[in-house]
Amino acid sequence: MPMVGLGTYMLQGESGEQSMLAAVNAGYRLLDTAQMYGNEREVGNVIRRCQVPRQELFITTKLYRPSASYREAKRDIEKSLAALQTEYIDLLLIHEPYEASLDMYRAMTEAYQAGTVKALGISNFNTSQYLEFIDSCGVIPVVNQVEAHVFHQQGALQEVLRRHGTHMQAWSPFAAGKENFFHNAVLQAIGTRYNKSVAQTGLQFLIQQGISVIPKSSHPDRMRKNMDIFDFELSASDIEKIKALDTQKSLFGWY
Ligand SMILES: NC(=O)c1ccc[n+]([C@@H]2O[C@H](COP(=O)([O-])OP(=O)(O)OC[C@H]3O[C@@H](n4cnc5c(N)ncnc54)[C@H](OP(=O)(O)O)[C@@H]3O)[C@@H](O)[C@H]2O)c1
Repeated sequence: MPMVGLGTYMLQGESGEQSMLAAVNAGYRLLDTAQMYGNEREVGNVIRRCQVPRQELFITTKLYRPSASYREAKRDIEKSLAALQTEYIDLLLIHEPYEASLDMYRAMTEAYQAGTVKALGISNFNTSQYLEFIDSCGVIPVVNQVEAHVFHQQGALQEVLRRHGTHMQAWSPFAAGKENFFHNAVLQAIGTRYNKSVAQTGLQFLIQQGISVIPKSSHPDRMRKNMDIFDFELSASDIEKIKALDTQKSLFGWY
């Protein structure tokens, strides 16, 4: 799975497709969608329209509340495959914990065994929800996609995930601009020394913690810059300065 992908929340219609095509042209190979975003059809059109072979793309989608039973999850996996116009989904997540998460996961596991889903994961599970889930889920989820950014670094959860073999992927890696993220003085001062922007510095921090990222942008120049982070490494003392920004609290009211 690529360490940087494109978040596609709010990328809809023809303009959304154009943004996603621009991202693929800029080098993105991972597109993160969800049934909830209402844009799987657009992602499917991009898979068809872009010049990149399907096996080089990595498509993530998520099942949410309307799929919260074994039968509905089974039905909705088929719906996602049809909307995405593809033979397989690279990574299928449960969007958030539901009472019926294990039943949904049973349907997902059957799709995994049938080869229409290549990897299984979860999203927005906190430590206790995760530990309870892996106690009975069978196939350990490869990914837990959670809110993670410099203001909510999720170190404790990541440690638990790592111990059990689940990778952490960050949604809203820019905190969606909250707390004046793009003008943060600490990130600005550090980034300037590496000739990098606040956005690039914030992403590189997460990558160096072993967390993959799915920043969203609709602007091709920003997409390109958000990918241009593999030619520098933050020093240990800069990492410590950024660690001090952690409030250990969600900015989005999760958990
Ligand atoms: N699993 C979940 O429950 C969950 C929840 C939330 C999000 N997600 C996923 O995570 C993805 C990313 O999260 P997000 O969209 O909430 O927030 P984000 O990626 O943290 O921030 C996106 C915002 O930052 C702006 N931006 C992007 N690059 C920029 C740059 N270089 N300089 C200045 N501004 C920049 C974007 O505006 P422009 O578009 O105008 O550039 C947009 O307003 C979503 O799209 C979705 O795929 C998952």
